Order: sequence, then C-alpha cells, then structure tokens
Amino acid sequence: PFKPFKPFYMETTADIMIRKTTNSRLKEVDFDNLEFGKYISDHMLVCDYAHGEWKDPQIVPYANLSMSPSALGLHYGQTVFEGMKAFRMHDGSINIFRMDKHYDRFVRSLQRMCMAVVPKDIFVEGLRRLVELDKDWVPSKPGHALYLRPFVFASEARFGVKVSDEYRFVIFTGPVPSLYADPIKVKVETQYIRAAKGGTGFAKCGGNYGAAFLPTQQARLEGYDQVLWTDGIEHKYIEESGMMNVMFVIDGKLVTAPLSDSILDGVTRDSLLTLAQDLGFKTEERPVAVAELEDAFKKGTITEAFGAGTAAVVAPIKTIHINGIDYSLPQYDANKLQFKLKAGLENIRLGVSTDVHGWNYML
Ligand code: COI
Repeated sequence: PFKPFKPFYMETTADIMIRKTTNSRLKEVDFDNLEFGKYISDHMLVCDYAHGEWKDPQIVPYANLSMSPSALGLHYGQTVFEGMKAFRMHDGSINIFRMDKHYDRFVRSLQRMCMAVVPKDIFVEGLRRLVELDKDWVPSKPGHALYLRPFVFASEARFGVKVSDEYRFVIFTGPVPSLYADPIKVKVETQYIRAAKGGTGFAKCGGNYGAAFLPTQQARLEGYDQVLWTDGIEHKYIEESGMMNVMFVIDGKLVTAPLSDSILDGVTRDSLLTLAQDLGFKTEERPVAVAELEDAFKKGTITEAFGAGTAAVVAPIKTIHINGIDYSLPQYDANKLQFKLKAGLENIRLGVSTDVHGWNYML
C-alpha cells in the first residue's frame, strides 16, 4: 500500500495534507500547441483504502507510483476513471464543470466494478485543492481546459481472483486543447460490440476502452477515424461513437440513444440535450436504428451527426459507412446546431452567459 510521503514542507487544509513541488514544470508547457494527454500538472492527489476506510488524502508532487506487480487491478480489471474539465473564465476565475454529475457517475462505475466508493468530500475537496494549487496550469485560450483525471484501481497485492480489499484513488490533471476539431469519418460496426445488455457499458471502467481498441484499429486500416457502435443483440441500433455518445439531427430534431446499461451517461450528452431544449429545439432520447439512418440519408432528412464527450465537446462526423456505402453529411458551417450548442456550453463555462443550470463549481 501507499506509504505516506515524508513531508518537507506542508500545510494542512481540511483533511488533505499538501506537499508542494519545489521544481514546477509549468515553464515546459507550450500553451499555444497543446496536445491532448501530453502535459501533466505539477501535483496529484493520492488516497488509499484499506481495512474498510479511505485514509489520509495527500496532495504531492506528480511522480510515479510504487505498486506491487500483483496489484489486483492490473490483472482482473478493477479500474474506474472520470474525465472532467476545469475552465478559466473571462474574469480570470476558475470553475470545475458539473462536479456533482461526474461524482455520481464515478460512484455508479465503482459500484458496478465492485470497488470501494470514494467519499464525496475527498473527491470534491481533493479536486478543488488540486486545481487551486495548480491554477497556473489552467489554460486561458477559449476551448482549452485543464483536464481532470480522477481514478481508482484495485491495489491489493495478491493474485488470487477476488474482489480487492485495497484501493488507491489518484487525481492528476493536465492542460488540453479540445480533441477532434476536424470532421471525422465513422463506420457502423457490425462484427464487434462495445457493450452488452447487463454488461459494463454505462460504467467508466478501463476495460470498456481497452476492448474498443482492436475494432477501432481495424476501422482505421479501412480509412475511418472511429466506429459507430451498434447494440450487442442485433447490431440494429446505434449506441455510441468511438469513446463518446453520438447525436444526430434528423428532421430538425436532436436525436440520441436513450440511457441504458450499455450507454455511458455522458455529462456532455446531458448538457447538450439541455442546451438544445433551452434554444427551443426538440430533442428525442430513443433508439436510433441503422436502417433509420440509411433512410434519412436517402431522403436527405439527416443534417448533422456528431460525437459528444468531455474531451472533444463535439466531434463533427462527415461520413458514415453503412452496409458498404459511405454516406456523406452536408457540409458544416457555424450555424449548425452542434456548433451553437458547443458555443452555448463554452459561453457558460467562460462566464459570458448566465449559468442558469448551476453547472459551474466555482473555485
Ligand atoms: C471523453 O470524451 O471525454 C472521453 O471519455 C474520452 C477520454 C477517455 C479521453
């Protein structure tokens, strides 16, 4: 298990011990050329669970972790993460977007994977203190953000197949641009599936991402950027796109698959549905059949398709491959709904428009 670091200068805030770095890496960051996942901020939070208790959360300089090769999470897949963002607003203040909704999903994911649930105060206070400490890492360019990566893995050193009795909770952060600004080509996947009924599709567990790599790699070899996942029973209904929820504009309505045990309850998905309704657009959360998309392309009633996720916000789709045919979406311009929604979200996050839904957790 994690051994408390020897503090060499510390301050206690709430119940989180903080040891600051004496050697910031901030100067190494090129904020004009950020790449998603490349830079990691100066500090991380670490907290261990053992004997039924989460104890002694600490914020320490970002560094490698020491762990046993037999840590259960490495073998049997008890790993869960969240993906969140902190934004710098126009007036310089910083907010963390929809902290509560992310926490609730984190809990559902942990419960599905039979893992110890991180108490809300450690999650919230840990993120708050960490972002505050590394506030100079929060980019100020619109669309850019400080990505926050809370995660838990089974840390018990034992190779018998069992539910772990020990866990480690870690949060690290890093400045990011938004992913996938250019429209992408996707392929309706009818051989592999992302999630099965009764499976873990709604949970943000590492295995869901690992299992998606092979089909995605195959789609790339065929000239596509991502797959459009279909349901695990008949490959008849569209579920998600790549590692995001997927939305369509059909007959002027914003349409997306309903939440289920095979769909991730995306925070961006929920935010865009809400903003579309605020703008007076009709939204529908209902099964979207592959055949309906084919039909809509033939009739010209589908005008937009896009992935929705925290990393990309929206990922415009320009081509959908269905049953041997590449269907093209009409050319996108700034007036398309997806860009209005993206701008609407950005305006709330930057403090340009009023946060009527209470989504910004202000530092
Ligand atoms: C997101 O869209 O934010 C994701 O879940 C992708 C993440 C794994 C980078």
